[in-house]
Amino acid sequence: SSSAEPRISSQDTLNSLQLAVHDLRRRQPVVFPTETVYGLGALALDASAASSIFSVKGRPPDNPLIVHVSSIEMLHTLLPSTFQLPKSYDLLIKRFWPGPLTLLFPSDSQIIPSIITANQPSVAIRMPSHPVARALIALVKAPLAAPSANSSGKPSPTTAEHVRRDLDGKLGIILDAGACEVGLESTVVDGLREDGKIRVLRPGGVTVEDIEQTLREGFLDTQVLVHRRDYRDEKLEAAPTTPGMKYRHYSPTAPVTLLYTSSPPAGVVPLSAQSFFLTLKDEINTFSSVKIGVLALTDSPFGKMSLPAINGLEWHRQELGPVNHPSVTARRLFDALLTLDQQGVDMILIEEVVEIREGLAVMNRVRKAASQSRWITI
Ligand code: TXA
Ligand code: MG
Repeated sequence: SSSAEPRISSQDTLNSLQLAVHDLRRRQPVVFPTETVYGLGALALDASAASSIFSVKGRPPDNPLIVHVSSIEMLHTLLPSTFQLPKSYDLLIKRFWPGPLTLLFPSDSQIIPSIITANQPSVAIRMPSHPVARALIALVKAPLAAPSANSSGKPSPTTAEHVRRDLDGKLGIILDAGACEVGLESTVVDGLREDGKIRVLRPGGVTVEDIEQTLREGFLDTQVLVHRRDYRDEKLEAAPTTPGMKYRHYSPTAPVTLLYTSSPPAGVVPLSAQSFFLTLKDEINTFSSVKIGVLALTDSPFGKMSLPAINGLEWHRQELGPVNHPSVTARRLFDALLTLDQQGVDMILIEEVVEIREGLAVMNRVRKAASQSRWITI
């Protein structure tokens, strides 16, 4: 339940947590695991502690931070005294906290430093379920601001090793608790809209299907607004020659191409997969071979194809799991991208997945990571 105090199982863990608490109180950021991704934490109610997060990540100051709490009591200390939880939040908190759901609340400027909200009227808050995250917050007895522990623009880290590779030399303590269960960031939900509708600002670990079901079961017929596709990007990319380089997020060093295997928009003629692979020959120069990373589902038509042997071309394959298990794809995506980066690939190809359940969040991240897309047929 959300009010139970976290239990700490070993003396070693407690010692590490206490070192981390000490650093946090000295305004030093600490890397800690959550069930979604690793976070870079600092005291949320201390503006100078929170500002160090921005410098470590190279994060633009207009991007607000999520505040993490370990109990409902702590949540209430952050809210304006006049604020009443809407029924939708009541239902969502009961069902998904602690867990990968972030909610927007009205921000009281007397309580929340403006550096946290980037001067927005709302503050984003979540209660993580990872025992180490919750124990850390409970022990420091204060909410922690924590973005994902990656340099701005890179994929979020799902292991302590990813954090070390990316932010080496800029960090103090990293609490290592192995790989993150969810693998993608929390779902960010705005339920403060005047029209009473709920808007999913970022799809994530809690699925839209589960949010809708929870509201229905609580007899709320609230509409949930969500962008299933980024139409603006889609249009740009519909012209096959447009690189669509406008947005880069969640991007490994190597450029990412999204391979759509579903039916193309009007006017786009898909290439056969085999012909597409042959176009990759153009990347080869005479001096060195080219490494191509491929992220494919295990049992899709694309995933089951064999990759052709082409002189000067080296395939590096990463499995995204079975078609019908989008939670597995979610867990593997960032690790697969970061592993290919580590292997020094020159280019990454990612297969499209269906936008149901965790697939929606997966495709949201993949679209942002991709600098171009192609339609292929198998
Ligand atoms: O799973 C997660 O949410 C992870 C772990 C560490 O908890 N954290 C995370 O934080 O993903 P970050 O900073 O990488 O992403 C925070 C997202 C951003 O898209 C930001 O724009 C949005 O939350 N956000 C934060 N405060 C907001 C606000 N007041 N209004 C609208 N969006 C907000
Ligand atoms: Mg992030």
